[in-house]
Amino acid sequence: METGFLHLHNLLRYALLIVLLAAIIRSFSAMFSNAGYGKLDNKLGLWLVLLTHVQIIIGLALYFMKGWHSHISEMAEAAVRYRALEHPLVMIIAAVLITIGRSKGKRKTTDKGKHQFAGILWLIALVLILSRIPSWTLPGMH
Ligand code: HEM
Repeated sequence: METGFLHLHNLLRYALLIVLLAAIIRSFSAMFSNAGYGKLDNKLGLWLVLLTHVQIIIGLALYFMKGWHSHISEMAEAAVRYRALEHPLVMIIAAVLITIGRSKGKRKTTDKGKHQFAGILWLIALVLILSRIPSWTLPGMH
């Protein structure tokens, strides 16, 4: 069960990163070319939020299955702190930004405003996510 969740969580990162990147590129290009906010933008935002939430739920399940919540006393060790605190916390902040980017973004009054609001929040979320993927950024994992 735990291995299955880890595989899923591991793989879902790519789907999420691809959709997030596509949504950012779309938002910024639409912003600069003054393109409208259409059905595709709405769908892309919806999929992005959906994938993000599924990833967070699987992450939370994994966190407790692996028992990281009981490692609080070992936080002084960087590798433990990274997995027990930094990875979950930073990912949850990124997920909040992705969700607000879509929900508040689409309520902006102009199409340019919608693209701009979502694009900027999603870009910050991308940087946060890329900064805390264990196998990519945890020292000693390469
Ligand atoms: C956007 C959200 C997230 C992404 C993209 C993500 C990505 C990943 C990836 C790629 C791994 C595989 C390990 C590796 O690369 O070395 C991983 C592991 C893990 N993630 Fe996430 N994660 C996210 C959110 C979360 C959240 C919110 C939690 C917990 C509350 C969480 C808990 C875990 C746990 C427990 C592991 C296994 C770590 C270990 O024991 O080595 N993840 N995550």
